[in-house]
Amino acid sequence: MSDQQPSAQLNPDHIHYAQLEWDADGQPLSSAFGDVYFSRANGLEETRHVFLRHNQLAERWQQLKHSEKFVIAETGFGSGLNFLAAWALWLDTAPAGAQLHFVTVEKFPLSKSDLHRALALWPELKNLSQQLVDAYPCIVGEGFHRLSFMDGRIKLTLIINDAARGFAQLLATTDPLYAQYSTKVDAWFLDGFAPSKNPQMWSEDLFSRIHQLSKAGTTAATFSAASIVKKGLKFAGFRLQKVAGFGRKRDMLTAVFPDSCNDNFYPQPFYKSFSEFPLPWVINSTPVNPREKHAIIIGAGLAGCTSARALAERGWRITLLERSNNIAAEASGNPQGVLYAKLSHKQEAQAEFNLTSLQFAQSFYATRWPVIGDQTGVLQLAHDDAEKLLHTQLREKFSTATELVQFVTAKQASDLAGIPLSQDGLYFPDAGWISPVQLCEQLIDHPLIQLICACEVQNIQHDNGMWCVNSNTELHAPIVIIATARDAQAFAQTQHLPIKSIRGQISYLPATASSEPIKTVICSEGYIAPARAGFHCTGATFNLKEESRELRTQDHQTNLENLRAPLPELMDDWKNLDVSALDGRVAFRCTLPDYLPAVGPVADETATLHSFAPLRKNARASVQETGKYLPGLYINIGHGSRGLAYTPLCAEILAAHINQEPQPLASELVNALNPARFLIRDLIKNKR
Ligand SMILES: Cc1cc2nc3c(=O)[nH]c(=O)nc-3n(C[C@H](O)[C@H](O)[C@H](O)COP(=O)(O)OP(=O)(O)OC[C@H]3O[C@@H](n4cnc5c(N)ncnc54)[C@H](O)[C@@H]3O)c2cc1C
Ligand SMILES: C[S@@+](CC[C@H](N)C(=O)[O-])C[C@H]1O[C@@H](n2cnc3c(N)ncnc32)[C@H](O)[C@@H]1O
Repeated sequence: MSDQQPSAQLNPDHIHYAQLEWDADGQPLSSAFGDVYFSRANGLEETRHVFLRHNQLAERWQQLKHSEKFVIAETGFGSGLNFLAAWALWLDTAPAGAQLHFVTVEKFPLSKSDLHRALALWPELKNLSQQLVDAYPCIVGEGFHRLSFMDGRIKLTLIINDAARGFAQLLATTDPLYAQYSTKVDAWFLDGFAPSKNPQMWSEDLFSRIHQLSKAGTTAATFSAASIVKKGLKFAGFRLQKVAGFGRKRDMLTAVFPDSCNDNFYPQPFYKSFSEFPLPWVINSTPVNPREKHAIIIGAGLAGCTSARALAERGWRITLLERSNNIAAEASGNPQGVLYAKLSHKQEAQAEFNLTSLQFAQSFYATRWPVIGDQTGVLQLAHDDAEKLLHTQLREKFSTATELVQFVTAKQASDLAGIPLSQDGLYFPDAGWISPVQLCEQLIDHPLIQLICACEVQNIQHDNGMWCVNSNTELHAPIVIIATARDAQAFAQTQHLPIKSIRGQISYLPATASSEPIKTVICSEGYIAPARAGFHCTGATFNLKEESRELRTQDHQTNLENLRAPLPELMDDWKNLDVSALDGRVAFRCTLPDYLPAVGPVADETATLHSFAPLRKNARASVQETGKYLPGLYINIGHGSRGLAYTPLCAEILAAHINQEPQPLASELVNALNPARFLIRDLIKNKR
């Protein structure tokens, strides 16, 4: 490693942004690596020559079928020039219904302003580069960012990490025996600085991941013909060809993964009493590839409607069934919900999922405001000692992520809120309140989505490769998604899930002269939203195991009391309110014991308990069987109090499972949401 190179041992919470110098022509250079981002002669032409032509993309894309997908994976996103050039070519050559997945790993991301400056070099790409700059995420440590362009026609998965480690997170599990079940790449763009300047990236680990993510016919192209790259690609199983490079570069490499790769890459399976890898219960080895892309979704709340939209944008015909007379009639029926997810400084699944889902949701809603609600910003006040401590702990990780969250004093919070506040807090400038009903209406407004209301599904049965969905009529589809929140327990196939139902009541408070100026959502013990039609939505209570649908005066009182600490002055206006006459709404949250949603294929309960029975005696037993899932049955539930933040990302995860695409999240997190986790935990605890 040269002295100048950034340390390879990164703290996952601390990202090293690229340090750039700009030459006299306005071209970026990496100060740390002493290398260019693209050819000084003509970067765009270089990209077209090396990566587009030598992966034969135009020819391959012209032959794609309607609604087919194509996956490109790249080392080193840099300025995004390769991505934009591929996007432009896709528009010229691929069928309108097809989907381009561009997965890229970047260890030293450009700041948004540097990205903007670098891309200004390409006026012919301006229309696309502006969309990329606008959507470029606020980067907080390592992790995945999924961006979607042109109604989902183009999907960018930007993984902030070292290339080898980032690609490992795309594998369904790191166990080499099961790598074959991972989603495969169609074409590799092996960019990254020259091997002489960046030997760490071109590692054996990287080429192992490239092998695991490739299939017969996968191609690769790289600007470099250095021997480390040649050796690496050969090691990864590719057949190589040296061809003329771009401009003054004499050579470059192009490569293809053969039809039958003599795969002695990994040792053959052998029995071990302990597994060194996570168990393969997460692998759904029998995904369904139906002739007709048709799915029935049961339940038209936030989970059902986001799932319907995600699949419709991938060319799936959706039949959406709802037992009520209207969509969003249960938990998703409140007039104003807050877009919010609790941040954490910890490195655990819950914290990472919250952060990724909030960022994904904000970008998902970016083009949907103001029809769905109001992007007023959200204040989270430090209302007690625990919250104060948390805000202090968050500072280190989030202090530079001001686009996402800002640490504000009571004075700043007051200015933002439009009323006096006495507590410091966090401010989420891109969040706000959303009307879930209006959001759901917008989501299902798609020609491929057919809504059937007043249709309560009694049961579902699998027969002859099709699911039979029994309600007042009998409907059939190869894929069924259960999005019925707590009522998933009514179906025999998902009855085993440890679903908890939590009653919640919100109150509609009449706006007063003092409360009318509230400009942002204010969250404390409870929340209050800016007034709409003369009322503030405020809440919500939490009551486990309570079933009453009646509004309760005592709960209105609790909601009011929760506003006393943050808004003492406003309480005077409401002190003479007849609380028993307040209006409001009762609904039920659906949660799971680990507070993560359950999203993915539904386990075959009996077969799972049988196959993984050795876990009863030994939690680390090496069970060399893949997971057992009911073919074509999926679920999307358990969004607790965070449906607005969680459901857009969960719908994307579900669509990736069903459509067999790269996931928008590291596989560890996708696996943490797998509905089968509870069966496995029960086996390990010897409860079943
Ligand atoms: C009081 C309260 C306040 C909340 N506040 C917020 C907030 O501020 N921010 C936030 O992000 N989240 C909030 N939440 C949580 C959020 O509302 C939920 O996470 C979200 O609505 C869950 O969506 P869902 O689609 O999973 O469930 P639901 O909206 O309950 O949808 C399930 C649907 O399935 C239908 N269904 C059930 N069984 C059948 C069947 N057999 N056949 C046909 N249809 C069926 C139901 O009728 C229902 O429409 C709140 C929740 C409550 C209760
Ligand atoms: C030549 S530039 C890529 C140019 C880019 N593809 C474009 O279109 O602008 C190389 C990129 O690789 C990144 N990089 C270097 N080492 C890396 C590593 N180990 N893992 C991931 N990315 C790395 C650099 O930060 C830089 O952005």
